[in-house]
Amino acid sequence: MIRKILLLPGDGIGPEISLQASRLLAACQEAGLDIAVEEALVGGAAYDAHLDPLPPETLQKAKDADAILLGAVGGPKWDTLEDLSKRPEKGLLGLRKHLGLFGNLRPAILYPQLAEASSLKPEIVSGLDIMIVRELTGGIYFGQPRGIEMRDGERVGFNTYVYSESEIERIGRVAFKMARKRGKKLCSVDKANVLEVTILWREVMNRLASEYPDVELSHMYVDNAAMQLVRAPKQFDVIVTGNMFGDILSDAAAMLTGSIGMLPSASLNESGQGMYEPCHGSAPDIAGKNVANPLAMMLSVAMMLRYSLSEPALAERIEAAVGQVLDGGLRTADIASEGMRTVSTDAMGDAVLAAFARG
Ligand code: NAD
Ligand code: IPM
Ligand code: MN
Repeated sequence: MIRKILLLPGDGIGPEISLQASRLLAACQEAGLDIAVEEALVGGAAYDAHLDPLPPETLQKAKDADAILLGAVGGPKWDTLEDLSKRPEKGLLGLRKHLGLFGNLRPAILYPQLAEASSLKPEIVSGLDIMIVRELTGGIYFGQPRGIEMRDGERVGFNTYVYSESEIERIGRVAFKMARKRGKKLCSVDKANVLEVTILWREVMNRLASEYPDVELSHMYVDNAAMQLVRAPKQFDVIVTGNMFGDILSDAAAMLTGSIGMLPSASLNESGQGMYEPCHGSAPDIAGKNVANPLAMMLSVAMMLRYSLSEPALAERIEAAVGQVLDGGLRTADIASEGMRTVSTDAMGDAVLAAFARG
């Protein structure tokens, strides 16, 4: 059965890394994968063409797809748009919300070849393999009421941090099941010493724990978790947390692996449909220069093959190809240690494709 993939390159370095992903998809087709790949506009690119960061035709194509691959959205060009609903980031948030992609998996894995590229000492990060499970369609990102309004003669800005028991429970189940398949340790990160919403979060996680007796559940306040991630990151196996804490902690975890350019992600809904994207943004500072690291995007293709297309062998082949390329000493600037020669986005893509073809 032919599966439909929607590619949404987006803005900044999005199109540059998406090109490498689409070449990789073509190589998968040559290896026998039965897929049809379509492209559509999202983010600033869609705003420029249609005054809408998530045009109805893009949303429809996304709903019809078996899986979606997204580069990145946003950039300074659109940061001053007064109407917040037109900002590129709203295109991404709209896709997540409309498709119900509540389960965000962000694996922070250190390729041993990159131990020197991490900003932490090699012995602190060697062998690192953490899975961050981030709730993606609720919490303070989506809570109502929200806005900026006049109160007592001055403007106030406000957002609402809200989670229902059912929202906590469904992300909790994703995390417990993930822990069960891995090291059987789950750390739930909250701010239950201050915020009622996370008192409820902790309570629901504790209740779920009785259904997963083989998984060891612990709790940590988010401020301590941020500190522990850079102090002794290997204490973690699976981390489960809400939308905003997960956003912040996953960027910190990314740096443990050498660069944010290495971290892929999967965002899944209840029917297993998924959107796959690197955790990084559109990197306006390096956009258009052919220097961005395409590996987070190419590893997102691997996650798509694993989680939405049930093609674990092809996924492993991509991951092995990335390993071989790193073994060979190829580095984009973000993962190069001192004195190492660096290569372009295209050259890194070429090398992964060549290793994939050999594999
Ligand atoms: P960013 O992740 O785009 O960049 C942070 C730093 O990391 C920059 O120095 C950048 O050059 C570097 N970097 C990021 N990806 C890289 C890669 N693949 N290779 C090499 N270096 C890389 O974060 P930011 O600067 O805070 O945000 C820029 C824009 O991206 C904003 O508009 C933001 O809203 C948007 N954003 C989008 C997404 C997304 O689409 N999923 C995620 C985060 C940020
Ligand atoms: C991410 C990004 C997004 C988020 C932004 C661009 C809306 O930072 O995917 O990590 O905050 O979720
Ligand atoms: Mn982020």
